Amino acid sequence: MEEELKTLAQRISVCKDCPLSRNRTHAVPGDGSSSARIMFIGEAPGFYEDQQGRPFVGPAGKFLDELLSSAGMSRGEVFITNMVKCRPPENRDPMPGEVEACRQYLDKQIQILKPRVIVALGRHSLAKFFPQESISKLRGKPRQWNDTIIYPMFHPAAALHNQGLRHYLEEDIKGLPLLLKEAPLGEKEQPQPQQLPMF
Ligand code: URA
Ligand code: SF4
Repeated sequence: MEEELKTLAQRISVCKDCPLSRNRTHAVPGDGSSSARIMFIGEAPGFYEDQQGRPFVGPAGKFLDELLSSAGMSRGEVFITNMVKCRPPENRDPMPGEVEACRQYLDKQIQILKPRVIVALGRHSLAKFFPQESISKLRGKPRQWNDTIIYPMFHPAAALHNQGLRHYLEEDIKGLPLLLKEAPLGEKEQPQPQQLPMF
C-alpha cells in the first residue's frame, strides 16, 4: 500500500492534466501514514505548500497541528491531502474543471487508504461528498458516505481570517477520537479468516 501511494505521488508530481501545472513549483500529493484510519482533505496547496511540496505547512497547517495535538493525535497517524494537488494562482478557489481533472488522484488515494473517517476541511472538500450541503450546517456532524464516515469541519485557514470560527474547530476536533473508536471496522482491519484443519 505504501508503494502504491508513492507511485501515485510520483505520477502527481509530473502531472499536466490541468492548467494549474503551469505555475506550480511543486505538486503536493499528500502526506502521512499509509495505514492511517483518518484522512484530512483540504482545498488546495498555498504558497508554503507549493514551495515545499508538502500539505498544510504554512499558518493553516500550524493551526491544524495544534488541533490534532489537542485531540491527542499527530500527523504521523493521519493522512493529509487536498482536493487539488497544485497551487491555484494567488490562492484563488480551485475551478470546477481543475477539481474534476484532479479527482482521479484523490479517488485513488481514498481507494488505497480506505480510511474509516474522512475529515472534510471546508466547503470545497465537503462539496466532493455532499455537494448540496453547507459547511456551517454540517460541521461536527458525522455522515455516512459509502463505507466511510465523513466528518465536516471548517477549514483551519478560515479560522485564521475569522477568529470567531476558531472555537468551532476546537470543539469539532474533540469529537474525532470517539468517532474513530465507534466507526465500524474497515475492510483492512477485519480479522483474517482462519485456516480450518482439514478433517
Ligand atoms: N490550505 C489547504 O487547503 N491546503 C493546504 O495544504 C494548505 C492550506
Ligand atoms: Fe494534475 Fe491535479 Fe496538478 Fe491539475 S492540480 S496538474 S490535475 S496534479
